[in-house]
Amino acid sequence: MKKKITLIGAGNIGGTLAHLSLIKKLGDVVLIDVMKGMPQGKALDLSQSSAVEGFPCKVEGTNDFSQMKNSDVVIITAGIPRQPGMSRDDLLETNGKIIKKIGLDIKKYCPKAFVICITNPLDAMVFVLQKYSKLSAAKCVGMAGVLDSSRLKFFLSKELNVSINDIQTFVLGGHGDDMVPMVNHTTIGGIPLLDFIKKRKIPMTKINKILDRTRMGGGEIVKLLQRGSAFYAPASSAIQMAEAYLLDQKKLLPCAAYLNGQYGLKNMYMGVPVIIGSKGVEEIIEVPLSTAEKKMLKTSVKSVQSLVSAVNKILN
Ligand code: APR
Repeated sequence: MKKKITLIGAGNIGGTLAHLSLIKKLGDVVLIDVMKGMPQGKALDLSQSSAVEGFPCKVEGTNDFSQMKNSDVVIITAGIPRQPGMSRDDLLETNGKIIKKIGLDIKKYCPKAFVICITNPLDAMVFVLQKYSKLSAAKCVGMAGVLDSSRLKFFLSKELNVSINDIQTFVLGGHGDDMVPMVNHTTIGGIPLLDFIKKRKIPMTKINKILDRTRMGGGEIVKLLQRGSAFYAPASSAIQMAEAYLLDQKKLLPCAAYLNGQYGLKNMYMGVPVIIGSKGVEEIIEVPLSTAEKKMLKTSVKSVQSLVSAVNKILN
């Protein structure tokens, strides 16, 4: 039977998610948005592209949230994106209220779905989502790490002049400017990055610049676009997570997952490497951290915790 994928928020990321889901033949798509006409218009446009693309799946647009009923996968981008000069944290109150309502809808209409949150500020929003949807921790995740590590891979591939596909890396911590790119766990075709750059005589200052650019990668795009934030790479990243679940790929991906003791942290969501398969988050992988990484992670944890306590106060 065909799978059902519901996209809540039919804006820039939502529309791109729909397009990718259809082209990859992942399942039938429902686009839901509060804006009248817009999800219907995008669905009609996408449906007409099937004449050329030949995908066998249907797509519908609606303002009726009950249409998420019995979804296999839900991806949430509902909310407001950043504008130039705004941080992800500036979105907290508006998006927190939106995510709470969507969490309650998920509980009602599709409590067995695998749900991916993209709405920012990510780690706080996915916490709110899980709290109100009552989804199991394995079925409720946030998309950030795949995107942040894709940005790091891209910058490294340009600097090192190697294929982006040969770079393995991940980013730990919250999806904020204090995320922790894992340099010690980065390899180029299996060769540790640090050995690789030594051989090439690339100074560490250059790599540090790349790490900073990765941390600010979202802001750089917000500034260039002038209206809204990144959407192609965020959509691709979430689709990789959905695909890992739908196809039981057991993929190792950095995602915002619920921590219950891992990395010494409890009762919070944060970016960590996880295995995604048909049960959702099947395992959280812990890696040894250097003293410097532990320190950076602590800072990132503090930012996430302060956002969660602020949003809890707003919503209670
Ligand atoms: N329910 C459903 N959709 C909503 C709601 C709601 N309560 N409130 C707003 N929306 C819709 C808007 O109408 C809009 O179409 O969410 C959509 C968001 O789309 P965009 O403004 O294009 O934003 P996008 O770039 O897709 O980013 C969405 O993802 O990366 C994050 O920071 C980003 O939080 C932002 C989110």
